[in-house]
Amino acid sequence: MKENNSICRAVDIRKTYMRGKVAVEALCGVTVQIQRNDYISIMGPSGSGKSTLVHILSCLDSPTSGEYYFEDRLVSKYTDQELAQIRNKYVGFVFQSFSLLPRSTALDNVALPLMYGGVRKKEKIEKAQDILNKIGLGDRMHHRPNEMSGGECQRVAIARALVNDPRIIFADEPTGNLDSVTGAEIMEIFDKLVEEGNTIVLVTHDANVASHATKIVKLKDGRIDDA
Ligand SMILES: Nc1ncnc2c1ncn2[C@@H]1O[C@H](COP(=O)(O)OP(=O)(O)OP(=O)(O)O)[C@@H](O)[C@H]1O
Ligand SMILES: [Mg+2]
Repeated sequence: MKENNSICRAVDIRKTYMRGKVAVEALCGVTVQIQRNDYISIMGPSGSGKSTLVHILSCLDSPTSGEYYFEDRLVSKYTDQELAQIRNKYVGFVFQSFSLLPRSTALDNVALPLMYGGVRKKEKIEKAQDILNKIGLGDRMHHRPNEMSGGECQRVAIARALVNDPRIIFADEPTGNLDSVTGAEIMEIFDKLVEEGNTIVLVTHDANVASHATKIVKLKDGRIDDA
């Protein structure tokens, strides 16, 4: 039997935002497919629709038209509850601004996505500890975000994205707030995750960062730029 390697498939996706009475066409017919173990970077000028596309691919937002399939099911057919489950269990997110809970320790931030899974407390802590150790933050477990460097915070965010063993990881400008040396360290982590079989889609302005990926999708004015 032929193995199905597709994680998600977006067909002719359009997204229109209303800014007052003005319609903003953020995406004008984008078709992309993501397969298991893909390493894709999305590039393009500011306002070209990169974040909008990632929000749709990660089921954070829905398209105005077009079809989006996640794990071979049309996303528009999922209930809100199913979508929340997909985001929690199947999708990992990493943002430019880290988006950690400021008053929680690294360990608690990483364990947070396990809250919804009915996992026992001891197991949650062990799982979060394992991932923090793996990502080189074993000695920062009990630090809060303001007691860590930007690179450390981003590694905590990556650990949090990984804790539920997601099918796919989306990262929107993950190195955008980091100096180039720290950014390179974060990219080494992503490279290793892909070597281990993970699937990563990352948005970046930086050609050096994008060159880590095996496939580059360029957006221009809400369209894929094949030139
Ligand atoms: N919630 C919103 N309401 C109205 N317009 C929006 C909204 N979100 C995005 N847009 C518009 O949609 C277009 C695409 O935005 P998007 O954030 O996807 O761009 P981007 O490529 O991620 O840009 P950047 O590199 O600056 O992050 C822009 O014109 C933006 O102003
Ligand atoms: Mg953006």
